[in-house]
Amino acid sequence: MEILHTPEELREFRKKLQGSVGFVPTMGALHQGHLSLIEMARRENDNVIVSIFVNPTQFLPGEDYTRYPRRTEADLEICRRAGVDGVFLPKISDIYQSNDEVTLKAPKIKGYILEGHFRPGHFDGVLQIVNKLFNLTAPTRAYFGRKDAQQLYLIKQMVRDLFLDIEIREGETIREPDGLAMSSRNIYLSPEERKRALTISKALKRGAKLSYKIKDVNRLRAEMEKVLDIDQLQYIAFVNREFEPIEEVEHGNTIILIAGKVGNTRLIDNLYI
Ligand code: PAF
Repeated sequence: MEILHTPEELREFRKKLQGSVGFVPTMGALHQGHLSLIEMARRENDNVIVSIFVNPTQFLPGEDYTRYPRRTEADLEICRRAGVDGVFLPKISDIYQSNDEVTLKAPKIKGYILEGHFRPGHFDGVLQIVNKLFNLTAPTRAYFGRKDAQQLYLIKQMVRDLFLDIEIREGETIREPDGLAMSSRNIYLSPEERKRALTISKALKRGAKLSYKIKDVNRLRAEMEKVLDIDQLQYIAFVNREFEPIEEVEHGNTIILIAGKVGNTRLIDNLYI
């Protein structure tokens, strides 16, 4: 496995690769969710590249950029064992070379609802970095988890709108045995908070189950709120697969999303139903 520190090293490495390239962009602190994307990329491609970069432009002032977990050695070991060919591990100054650069804007509506409403500008930063990484890795396929459903949707939209020749592949959300969605941020939770965080996936399951009897999203939302035991609920939302808000559940074309805080930790989760 090669470790590539600069865009130039990555480009040189990429030039030598033959056949298809699967790319898994990450911010490190790799868990089973990332691993399942890497394994999928490994199965589907001749070569696999993973990037590890905690991207500053997708964090808002006051968010957890500085304390976001960084575990490079452990991450590299996970990549090595999973048969990754190259890991891109750049410095901030290699990626953002000027503070007056060309930027990308997330779409005005779908980039600024839900996550984009609570984290305005977050998706501008996500699309900016993902586009840069796509240009450097020139992948055949790129892998993203459904856990970040809105991010996944917007990346697919970017690929479509900018005519990028990349296939976006989606991985299911990977959960702990008790249902908690895996996230690098789960390590912030105290044992007591972790217990209450579980009510997020419970509420989603309850919503999904009841949706076979109740189609109206306002009634479903009220039922879901009854099981939630978190400190601040930011939203329970129902959208279709085009990320448009809906009033009635349509199975096969609905995503139920929850975001909220447990203690100081902001968590998101969703179910595709
Ligand atoms: O999902 C993430 O970990 C990040 O948003 C991504 C896609 C690696 C961009 O920094």
